Amino acid sequence: MSNFWSGYIALLTLGSIVALFWLIFATRKGEPAGMTDKTMGHSFDGIEEYDNPLPRWWFLLFIGTLFFGIIYLILYPGLGNWKGVLPGYEGGWTQDKQWQREMDAAEQKYGPIFAKYSAMSIEQVAQNDEAMKMGARLFANYCTICHGSDAKGAMGFPNLTDSHWRWGGEPAAIKTTILNGRIAAMPGWGQVIGEEGVKNVAAYVRQDLAGLKLPEGTVADVEAGKAIFAQNCVACHGQKGEGMAMMGAPNLTAPSGWIYGSGLAQLQQTIRHGRNGQMPAQEQYLGKDKVHVLAAYVYSLSHKAEPASN
Ligand code: HEC
Ligand code: HEC
Repeated sequence: MSNFWSGYIALLTLGSIVALFWLIFATRKGEPAGMTDKTMGHSFDGIEEYDNPLPRWWFLLFIGTLFFGIIYLILYPGLGNWKGVLPGYEGGWTQDKQWQREMDAAEQKYGPIFAKYSAMSIEQVAQNDEAMKMGARLFANYCTICHGSDAKGAMGFPNLTDSHWRWGGEPAAIKTTILNGRIAAMPGWGQVIGEEGVKNVAAYVRQDLAGLKLPEGTVADVEAGKAIFAQNCVACHGQKGEGMAMMGAPNLTAPSGWIYGSGLAQLQQTIRHGRNGQMPAQEQYLGKDKVHVLAAYVYSLSHKAEPASN
């Protein structure tokens, strides 16, 4: 801001405050003791106004707000180029600096706690109540938008509380998933095997691999579907359709772990056009230590602590 406008704003603001001081004292009418039933002498549709002094509490409140304004304008930036002299803020307060200070304070407070858990194994952390409370809070902040507040997932987002894992359910695999993210690549097969091929292999997956009934009246050659599967799908989904964690290819014999639906039409859709589920990497946002606690939390969801036996 140029010096002219800076001075203009400062002058205008301070001038207004001085004017308000003048106004409140100039119109003051002594102490409330002097209550009267005299009216101002005008009437608005029959409503009249007493000529009483301002109530003291109101008067003091007004003065209080004026002083608040002055102190605020000394501490915080507000008068043109004036940066304010709030203690602890070299060169004046800004939102960014306040945010950074809060982050630093949180880091100082929680950093050592997270570091302590980082030195423990994920299984150990998963047994620690305090750590699991922190994990639950982190999960609520960063993961529920996709995985749901109960972590049970939704269409396209895996359930993290069951025993089905696309990328592996061992502690290290879960941690890698959260740190680096995952990009699943299920190619679309419509162009390669044709519409009939899609119907045949979808019927094969649903009936022979997943063990689900085909809807009545389904027209499909399951044997032909089996051949297509052997030729095109086993590279990722395995000889028996058991899945491959390295590729993130799900087990096709366990439909309760599927995320795109097990209906015949949904299966055909998946096979025809492919799917590309993406789990976003968290390391750059949360750092290794928090991810360690989160991995333990996710691990705990499907490995509830054994009740202590006695
Ligand atoms: C290049 C490896 C690859 C090949 C080849 C492949 N898939 Fe997949 N498939 C995947 C991956 C990875 C996913 C997970 C996609 C996701 O999570 O977004 C997947 C997902 C699926 C799903 C969805 C499961 C769910 O969770 O809803 C079905 C069904 C499926 N594949 C069937 C097939 C069939 C049938 C073939 C052969 C025609 C095939 N796939 C070939 C890698 C492959
Ligand atoms: C933008 C949505 C999104 C957010 C946010 C998200 N995830 Fe995911 N996550 C996914 C998707 C989609 C997949 C499945 C990827 C695939 O198709 O293979 C996934 C997969 C996973 C898996 C692997 C599951 C398996 O079966 O192997 C884990 C573990 C996981 N997420 C944990 C988390 C945690 C912990 C957080 C919070 C830090 C989180 N996710 C935040 C979308 C998200």
